Amino acid sequence: MSTQTPLKVLHIDSSGRYTDSVSRDLTRYFADELQKELTDTEITYRDVAKGLPFVDEAWVTANFTAADDRTDAQKQTLALSDTLVQELFNTDIIIIGVPIYNFSMPAVLKAWVDMVARAQVTFHYTENGPAGLLKNKKAYLVVASGGTTIGSDIEFATGYLKHILSFMGITDVEIIKADVLMADAEAKLNEARTDIRRKVDFTSKQSALAA
Ligand SMILES: Cc1cc2nc3c(=O)[nH]c(=O)nc-3n(C[C@H](O)[C@H](O)[C@H](O)COP(=O)(O)O)c2cc1C
Repeated sequence: MSTQTPLKVLHIDSSGRYTDSVSRDLTRYFADELQKELTDTEITYRDVAKGLPFVDEAWVTANFTAADDRTDAQKQTLALSDTLVQELFNTDIIIIGVPIYNFSMPAVLKAWVDMVARAQVTFHYTENGPAGLLKNKKAYLVVASGGTTIGSDIEFATGYLKHILSFMGITDVEIIKADVLMADAEAKLNEARTDIRRKVDFTSKQSALAA
């Protein structure tokens, strides 16, 4: 199936492991199925587990200096953050692999959030309060856990990610879960794959309508 313009997908992984990573397997499955179903798909891949810097003083100072007044060194300090922000602006669909680490997300995924949540760039303050600047995007959180139930009171990743994405304007966020994998992992994986195929089917129909 082809659409008038390519469907742009940003595929993000954050698991520290590459062998047997459930979240990596499922996000890849999602991206592959989308590409099969909608042949005109452009996928950008970002593996944040390869490492991202933490916010430090130089970064904060550069970020809080008006864009026109930044020195070359400050521009360089913000260069990776600018690239990550641009990846978000350039996409229609964001697929984020979220392994649950210590009841939350991997630190490197939070580092990614800190690199893209930027005042005047991805959000700003209006007389009615904060408003997100990322528009018309849909995000899928593909979450894997060993024993923590996703959406329970002791799971601190998905609620936070939904909030921060919506703070930046991405209000349409869905969760695909393979949780409590310590019990009946195969059934959980099959359910997650079925859920992904449903979402791909939905996206394909939406794209056909828009074409
Ligand atoms: C450092 C670390 C911390 C973890 N903490 C939790 C946890 O708090 N709750 C949980 O259910 N599983 C926890 N797990 C298990 C992972 O969520 C589970 O293995 C999941 O499949 C990881 O995603 P991945 O397969 O994509 O690597 C942890 C795993 C690691 C490596």
